Amino acid sequence: MPAKAKYRKDYKKPDYTATDIFLDFQLDPQDTLVTATTTFQRLNQAASELRLDGHSFQFVSLKLNGEDFSRYQQDSESLVLDLSNVAGERFELTVQTRLKPAENTSLQGLYQSGDGFCTQCEAEGFRQITYMLDRPDVLARYTTKISADKTRYPYLLSNGNRIAAGELENGKHWVEWQDPFPKPSYLFALVAGDFDLLQDRFITKSGREVALELYVDKGSLDRADFAMQSLKKSMQWDEARFDLEYDLDIYMIVAVDFFNMGAMENKGLNVFNSKFVLANPATATDDDYLDVERVIAHEYFHNWTGNRVTCRDWFQLSLKEGLTVFRDQEFSSDTGSRSVNRINNVKLLRTVQFAEDAGPMAHPIRPEKVIEMNNFYTVTVYEKGAEVIRMLHTLLGEVRFQQGMKLYIAENDGKAATCEDFVSAMERASGVDLTIFRRWYSQSGTPELTVSDEYDERMHIYRLSVAQSTPPTHDQLDKINLHIPLKMELYDAQGHKLALQDENGPVSNVLDILHNQQVFEFHQVYSRPTPALLCDFSAPVKLDYDYSDAQLLLLLKHAQNDFIRWDAAQMLLANELRQNLHRRQNGDALQMNPMLLDTLRAILDNYQQDVELTALILTLPKETEFAEQFKVIDPSGIHAVRRFLQQNIAEHLKDLLLKIYHRIDLPNYRIAREDIALRSLRNCCLSYLAVTEFGNALVNTHYLHANNMTDTLAALAAATSAALPCRDGLLTDFEQKWAHDGLVMDKWFALQATRPDEDVLQNVKQLMDHPSFKFNNPNRLRALVGSFANHNPNAFHAIDGSGYRFLVEVLIKVNNSNPQIASRLIEPLIRLARYDAQRQTLMKRGLERLAKLENLSKDLFEKIEKALD
Ligand code: TRP
Ligand code: ZN
Repeated sequence: MPAKAKYRKDYKKPDYTATDIFLDFQLDPQDTLVTATTTFQRLNQAASELRLDGHSFQFVSLKLNGEDFSRYQQDSESLVLDLSNVAGERFELTVQTRLKPAENTSLQGLYQSGDGFCTQCEAEGFRQITYMLDRPDVLARYTTKISADKTRYPYLLSNGNRIAAGELENGKHWVEWQDPFPKPSYLFALVAGDFDLLQDRFITKSGREVALELYVDKGSLDRADFAMQSLKKSMQWDEARFDLEYDLDIYMIVAVDFFNMGAMENKGLNVFNSKFVLANPATATDDDYLDVERVIAHEYFHNWTGNRVTCRDWFQLSLKEGLTVFRDQEFSSDTGSRSVNRINNVKLLRTVQFAEDAGPMAHPIRPEKVIEMNNFYTVTVYEKGAEVIRMLHTLLGEVRFQQGMKLYIAENDGKAATCEDFVSAMERASGVDLTIFRRWYSQSGTPELTVSDEYDERMHIYRLSVAQSTPPTHDQLDKINLHIPLKMELYDAQGHKLALQDENGPVSNVLDILHNQQVFEFHQVYSRPTPALLCDFSAPVKLDYDYSDAQLLLLLKHAQNDFIRWDAAQMLLANELRQNLHRRQNGDALQMNPMLLDTLRAILDNYQQDVELTALILTLPKETEFAEQFKVIDPSGIHAVRRFLQQNIAEHLKDLLLKIYHRIDLPNYRIAREDIALRSLRNCCLSYLAVTEFGNALVNTHYLHANNMTDTLAALAAATSAALPCRDGLLTDFEQKWAHDGLVMDKWFALQATRPDEDVLQNVKQLMDHPSFKFNNPNRLRALVGSFANHNPNAFHAIDGSGYRFLVEVLIKVNNSNPQIASRLIEPLIRLARYDAQRQTLMKRGLERLAKLENLSKDLFEKIEKALD
């Protein structure tokens, strides 16, 4: 496998571009004929060779300006045309190819999902359809004609407007679509099949009417309403907050069951993983609903940040993804709870993104080197990318940030832009110097802020010393200083927030950290304060300040910033975990700080003050969240000590937990912020009560009385994790009820994979033969195998190596069928540096076995090579 890397520094403008593309699809599961007629234009007059990308199809014929043309060379991934005898600026190429969509298990290019057809072209899937300049800086106008059997495929969809349709012989029909906006090939889409259709409309703020169409599997219409509401809400929000309006007369969303990722922003025709569309109270949890809303919003927001302004090359991916994630986070925060959203985003960043930075795949949000582009749709590019945009927003403020957005869009509309184009627009529009800030785009790794303080009692001056450094990462040894906004507050011993001032008067609470070492002075501080550092998590960094438990308890009780309160609880619990791991190693009895238990009790008792935050503070961090604290992770120790903490909190608080559990009463299920918060608090109480003597009866009743999936699943999760006697009966009941529904069964598979039992792996292996399990469906595979490898660390990292061996067996198969999914599943195995020598050896053995595969995909090759290096 010639796995050649591409480098950002090697970017060259294309010698040719495509201006107009006419695509003709004659659809058939086993034999689809594609005729692509493209007008090319020579941009570089010295060029005489045109290299087109293409693979995984049967090449049928090639014509140039209507004549047979044979001056070309073909290799495994391209077709190189010799145009030295072709005069003129413009010429037309007609390429015919044959595809077998029914056999395409990679779910890239044109493939079959259920009984229908769909495409996935980002990042480089278009080249599996026909030969093309498959790069995002080649923008063309697309016209697409689709012909297919009319009864099996009554709906034939593509980007833009439906301009013509007709009947054919043999029960076939055709539809022609035209997209007026030039676009790169990765935004092309085609869908064909039989669906149920939900229709609605939206009037834009300038008064244009947009037809909204949502296509779902037959029989799923009762799960489509929420997605449609979410779409309208997103359209309205983007007009209000960003002054951005939709630009076509129709917006279509199709939900499919076979899909590699969340969803795809194809112009005017989004294709979604059905998991992010379908929701009703019986099948979806509160979190599922919020995910549907967020993903619908994300794809809609791409219409401007991604489609109207696209990326020059794939190294610029964060230009559209970081910005669009920032926009969807703001949407969720404006329309829901800002604190809950912030805390959940920080959890994801600290666990998954920090781990990526510390592992073999570390890369800057704008990568320098790529073998397989699909490997760079990462939490770093997406979530850290969004943090970088958020820091800009913090530094500029909303008004100047929006001025920057206006300039960015005005300058780049209809073009393929770079991250630099974005930062430059922000800089010029705001007048804020972003020279040092730009380094966030090229430096990988998680910066550390080391903070110390001193208090001058006599002068009433408080000094904060802040040092920054970034440890070396796998891809980059030398690090330089960044521009880090450090948002902070000071509290006195009674928990009152102090006004910040220096010798000249009031100062901002956002400190600009630019140098190695900086000292900030605060005046008129009349007693030693407690600093609240990194309010709202103002930068994606690790903070090192030697908080005492007393200071953390003060912040937990009194801080005005919700993130700080939650984070203080996290730090206190992490301290408990660390200390008890030591006690466990020394054979001492485990214990918890009684002051922490008292404070948690007081917060719980006061839950009505802030239900959402109470639930978040009381929720015990997962094993994987705790693990991120350690350089070398002890999975079984963390598992055991976390159990102890859970048990201990439950024992101390059980009277109150029980009282609140019974007091919260939500007879009618509503998707409303207040109800979601109360349900999550009540279910949090249940998860503790599950490990007390009331556990079995309470959980069993909770399941039987549940009138929505959130409560049903909370009961099942509590029963599973506490291995209650009622567990097996409940799991069987659920299975019988939902065996016909893959999406719902995913919740059941995930629970099975996270059972704390000794024989969990045996069970997972057997479930791969369960009638509801489909190996080629990425949702099923992730629910069962992904949950086991990522969310059951105690079993996955079993010291006999059985967890690793199992994952390797699965990867060998998925490497053949769907390399993109294989590459996502391998993640927990490449983080070997974080484990002890014995586990490292076992993990390495698994990776070496994979490395020897004859047909190892580029996707896996890139990760394995780095992990073994
Ligand atoms: N651009 C998509 C998004 O962020 C994600 C995406 C990239 C994707 N490549 C994909 C989705 C491949 C499915 C398959 O919304
Ligand atoms: Zn996106």
